[in-house]
Amino acid sequence: MIYLKTPEEIEQMRPAADLVSRVLGEVALWIKPGVTTRKLDTIAREFIHDNGGKPACLGYEGFPGTLCIEVNETVVHGFPSNYALRDGDIIGIDTVVEKDGFMGDSCYTFAVGEITPALTDLCRTTRESLYEGIAACRVGKRIGDIASAVQTYCEKRGYSVVREMCGHGIGRHMHEGPEVPNYGRRGTGAEIRNGMCLCIEPMINMGSKNIVIEPDGWTCRTRDRKPSAHYEHTMAIIDGRTEVLTTFDYIHQAITDRFN
Ligand code: MF3
Ligand code: CO
Repeated sequence: MIYLKTPEEIEQMRPAADLVSRVLGEVALWIKPGVTTRKLDTIAREFIHDNGGKPACLGYEGFPGTLCIEVNETVVHGFPSNYALRDGDIIGIDTVVEKDGFMGDSCYTFAVGEITPALTDLCRTTRESLYEGIAACRVGKRIGDIASAVQTYCEKRGYSVVREMCGHGIGRHMHEGPEVPNYGRRGTGAEIRNGMCLCIEPMINMGSKNIVIEPDGWTCRTRDRKPSAHYEHTMAIIDGRTEVLTTFDYIHQAITDRFN
């Protein structure tokens, strides 16, 4: 279902979007070699509770964490675990928080210590493709315009786009319509309208686009075990403008930006 929001409802989306952004900024302070992903999960869960929110992933269809943990070849939906981060890893942290009845969803892929130039380029390109998608997200255009912008940007640079996982609408529910794929054709799909709240989340692979789901039923990794990067923002279409409700500013305050 696509639920168009009133301007008042979009105002109510802001606290959730701000809180999820601050959660990623808090987690960013702790990302270094030796830290377990379970420790990051605990920090996030406590931070969300301390700030009046609820961790929306925890228990969602049985998901066991506050954070989705995406180390190296993990594309999405990895579990927090005893894995200790290593110098040279990349780690995507994807999470959703509920505040005052609305959801905010964001993801950022971090470098652990020093990463190779190839990984830096994968992360930079994926992050830039998110902003290409956002630039294509305009009233009167279509979902396929976003999808095509992301796909073109990444494929031109030699990367591949995961097909099975998509962005989505968001609001009182974590996942609402429409689906927002990261591949597709311009001029196709649902029309972008005032009142839509959308998550754009490119999942981009260094090798082939193929993925497998692990026997745990959740963890999605690349079939060739080459690395994958993932970034996500929540945005709202208001008064003919697209406004990004989440921000990476808290993250960039917390870390030296290694992607420039
Ligand atoms: N941003 C992720 C998504 O849209 C969040 C998933 S939370 C989980 O799929 F609980 F489903 F893992
Ligand atoms: Co999402």
